[in-house]
Amino acid sequence: MTRVITYGTYDLLHQGHINLLRRAKELGDYLIVGVTSDSFDRGRGKLNVRNNVLERVEAVKATGYADEVIIEDYLGQKIDDIQKYDIDIFAIGSDWVGKFDYLNEYCKVVYLPRTEGISSTQLRAESQVDYRIGIVGSGRIANRFVPESKVVNGALVTAVMNPDKEAGEAFAKQHELTPYTDYDAFLHEVELVYVASPHLTHYDYVKKALLANKHVLCEIPFVLAKDQALELYKLAEERNLVLLEASKTAFCPAFGHIVTLVKSGIIGEVVDVKSSLSKMVPPPTRELDANQAGGAMNEHGPLTLLAIIKLLGVDWHDVNFHSKMDNGVDIYTQGVINYPHATSSFTVGIGVKTEGNLVISGTKGYIYVPAPWWLTDFFEVRYEDQTKNKKYFYSYDGDGLRYEIQEWLSMIVNQRRSCYKLRPGESAAIAELIGKYRNHENVTEI
Ligand code: CTP
Repeated sequence: MTRVITYGTYDLLHQGHINLLRRAKELGDYLIVGVTSDSFDRGRGKLNVRNNVLERVEAVKATGYADEVIIEDYLGQKIDDIQKYDIDIFAIGSDWVGKFDYLNEYCKVVYLPRTEGISSTQLRAESQVDYRIGIVGSGRIANRFVPESKVVNGALVTAVMNPDKEAGEAFAKQHELTPYTDYDAFLHEVELVYVASPHLTHYDYVKKALLANKHVLCEIPFVLAKDQALELYKLAEERNLVLLEASKTAFCPAFGHIVTLVKSGIIGEVVDVKSSLSKMVPPPTRELDANQAGGAMNEHGPLTLLAIIKLLGVDWHDVNFHSKMDNGVDIYTQGVINYPHATSSFTVGIGVKTEGNLVISGTKGYIYVPAPWWLTDFFEVRYEDQTKNKKYFYSYDGDGLRYEIQEWLSMIVNQRRSCYKLRPGESAAIAELIGKYRNHENVTEI
């Protein structure tokens, strides 16, 4: 009996897939089809797959060609499968010619003719409704947002708003957008709003956008006080709108997996979280300007606090901060946040360099995420018995903003108003801690 195996995503199953499966089946007597898992696809940069893995498996089964369907979940799995299932022929479409020659060591590799003129990518593009996105602000992060949005289906940046006419026009020219200096006119033109303006303007821009019934993605720091955060989330809820804090780490695949592994008890009970983030900034820059809410805490507090809040929750017990100041801004802050059952601490720097790692300690082991942990693509789970240690690798594509943009659009399309990756309550808790710091509560200068 000749056993054949083939793999694919099989999103929006089409005639090309059916032809390929028929040809693969004709090569032997028994056909196994490997369908990629959702997390495997996300991990390899396929962000826009429409059907979930169950739907895709059902679609493959419905063709009648597969004798068995398996899930492909990790890099290198093909070699394992070929040996495990005693495969004679590995078959794949001709778009992959040469790419799988390395499997010749284990079985025969056959590249089958691909059906011209159809693909899942093409079908997704044809059925896609684009949302017109407007960006408020035209600084560094806004510049990164435009190219990142291009890899997310449905995201179409059309406009930029900046009261500084010259800066807005230069940005608009560079990215082929319409510039606005009038916020009302801008809100009239766009469907979704990404707020990437100076920190102190976030609250007003977000509120006005929500009042104009626009879904909003707001850069970090979202707002600098808890009551503002709660007010805006309430407003979004009342108007059935999506309001999401653009805390990019929260949405990247590796960080999400760290949170789920920790919650599933892989390192036992969590007893301590330590997160650190530093980026040196040469003057003059807004990060070093007290009048523009500069300082290490405002810049990097949102991400270091994200790790603590996601892993230990919002019910902390006490907090204190120690800061090194320069010209009215903290160039370094250390914070200690204690919970009834755990401790945590963070350090942030814009004029002091620290090792930017994340360490989560538990009663059975710990997770080590090396610097820069906030752009997570790798982490290791470590135990006393080192033979049990396990390393996890992920892709972190581009500037990483694509993950939050994809989540934002997916929430809008699927009418989800809250996202488990960053709940409004968690975002408000981060704003609360930043607000306490800004009010000089338990802050000691060193
Ligand atoms: N395939 C094919 N002819 C097509 C499209 C796909 O023969 N027109 C084959 C691929 O070569 C592969 C299998 O179908 O062997 C599954 O491919 P998959 O990546 O799921 O399909 P695509 O339509 O190419 O998907 P995408 O556009 O998302 O890459």
